[in-house]
Amino acid sequence: MRFSDDLIEEVRSRNDIVDVIGMNIRLTKKSGRYWGLCPFHGEKTPSFSVNPDRQMFYCFGCHKGGNVFTFVMEYENLSFYEALKVLADRAGVQLPEVEMSEEEKKQKSLVSRLFEVNKLAAGYFYTARKSERGKNADEYFKKRGLTEETMKHFGLGYSLMYSDDLYRFLKEKGYEDSFLKETGLVTFSEKGVFDKFWNRAMFPIMDERDRVIAFGGRVMGDGEPKYLNSPETKVFDKSNNLYALNYAIRSHKKYFLLCEGYMDVISLHQAGFTNAVASLGTAFTDRHAAKIAKYVDQVYLTYDSDGAGQNAILRALPILEARGITCKVVNMKPYKDPDEFIKALGAEEYQKRIDEAESSFFFEIDVMRSRFNLEDPREKSRFHESVARRLLEFSQELERENYEQAFVKRFDVPYKAFHELLISVAGREGPQKRGSSHDREERQAAEYSSKEEKQVDETVLKHQRLLLTRLSNEPGLYDKLKNVLDPSDFYGDLYQKVAEYCFEECENNGTVNVARIINRFEEKEEQLKAGAIFSTELDGMDSDTDRQKALSDHVRKIKSLSLERKLADAMAAGNNDEVNRLFAEQIRLKKTKNIL
Ligand code: UTP
Ligand code: MN
Repeated sequence: MRFSDDLIEEVRSRNDIVDVIGMNIRLTKKSGRYWGLCPFHGEKTPSFSVNPDRQMFYCFGCHKGGNVFTFVMEYENLSFYEALKVLADRAGVQLPEVEMSEEEKKQKSLVSRLFEVNKLAAGYFYTARKSERGKNADEYFKKRGLTEETMKHFGLGYSLMYSDDLYRFLKEKGYEDSFLKETGLVTFSEKGVFDKFWNRAMFPIMDERDRVIAFGGRVMGDGEPKYLNSPETKVFDKSNNLYALNYAIRSHKKYFLLCEGYMDVISLHQAGFTNAVASLGTAFTDRHAAKIAKYVDQVYLTYDSDGAGQNAILRALPILEARGITCKVVNMKPYKDPDEFIKALGAEEYQKRIDEAESSFFFEIDVMRSRFNLEDPREKSRFHESVARRLLEFSQELERENYEQAFVKRFDVPYKAFHELLISVAGREGPQKRGSSHDREERQAAEYSSKEEKQVDETVLKHQRLLLTRLSNEPGLYDKLKNVLDPSDFYGDLYQKVAEYCFEECENNGTVNVARIINRFEEKEEQLKAGAIFSTELDGMDSDTDRQKALSDHVRKIKSLSLERKLADAMAAGNNDEVNRLFAEQIRLKKTKNIL
């Protein structure tokens, strides 16, 4: 469903970005830009900026940026075409009824039909639970302390005893096998077609917009696996969704309670803690953390109190904190998990545990301590060294100092001696990387091999960003650049595309309309990345000489890496002529002083 570039551009240019964002966020004008609190990550001082001249937004905290489409897509959680529709309506632009290509029709209808069929299935399971045949499931939930209101709120259901009950129901509704294969609700095998879920207590999983995207099903009683989850589909990506996030968002609490299981979340919500969420039968990932950071900047982890739960906390903490989220850990002992805790002691006691929650630092220190025998002087000093390493992970001096003071006080360690130890560890090993104190060696080995590579990548990407931002501000540079660089010299597919569009704009219009370039990416993630490319800060360069030098630097770095890459390709392909040509070019680049 492709509208013309001109029409898309018309819709964009008729929706002033300051107006659109201003309807949702309070903006204040300061030196040619508007500033506000970023809606995409939790913050207390504004780092979200809107540039009226460029018609772009950019957050200096979470580095999200883009044009008015990107904002609407991200803020309202819409696809590009949905955002286009919203903004066209807003500006009174009539969108033509366009012919979709067959493939586009299929894709669009696949996604919307998946939502539709999941909703139907959820209704089917729900009704089954309420029917005579679903009594055991209904009783199962009741026995676990859930009220009818809670079951309704979460849409809890039952998958019947028959092996193809849902399948037949969906066939009657007219769905064809080829589509049902994509839903994850049925399994096709040589022996026939079977429902994926069979005689299980059913938990529909919803996305942020209340659409059913998948299911979890629990055996009632013993059996393996305890929970069966939908496979990933076009609408279900495990590491990008959290159970009950749709409700937690609406709680408007400053923090989320992060749990491990479906039942933990449901019990907490029933007890009034409607800000509880859970990752879905998978390890906690950075994408979960990014999702959470869109809404809150504090998380209370309320995982199982057993060893596995504690290890899961240790793994999740650095992931969350890397996204700027402050973490605390809620102690569930002597109970296994929040569900059992609430059942045994009730909501008030749980609230107390929240109030008493330990900072992530002391949680980690406590776990460390349990791994050493403090009666043994040698182990004791190894414990102190581990604490010192953990303290050295704080990049902010004041924060480290505060925790150091708190540690010596709590563990009754003489400050002077401990501080000397800290300094000697720092001298020996330098600052520590967050998260490295657990399974340190394993991590170090993994980090080591890719570290150098990553640094090269990051340096060249930075040069590319700076160059493209410069070019967008000073399109006159294009005349010189085009003699040295072409889009294929840029590293990374996205950068190549952005460079191509930029060069095209310079060639055709003599200017770079950044907001229009963003239109050309339909995927939100790509828009955000492209938006960030164009928002690279260019300060610290006052004189013309500095600026000229920086420019040559960017071009030289980009070109030399490009030549290396092309050379490696040519060698691998055994193309000797090309190899010789590239060698010659490399030498020329090294010899030439003024490449521009
Ligand atoms: P737990 O095994 O801790 O179960 O799994 P639980 O939450 O206490 O469940 P109940 O109270 O016995 O019903 C925690 C979470 O891990 C996922 C589920 O999301 C579950 O809620 N899980 C667990 C699976 O996906 N598959 C399994 O077989 C087990
Ligand atoms: Mn449980």
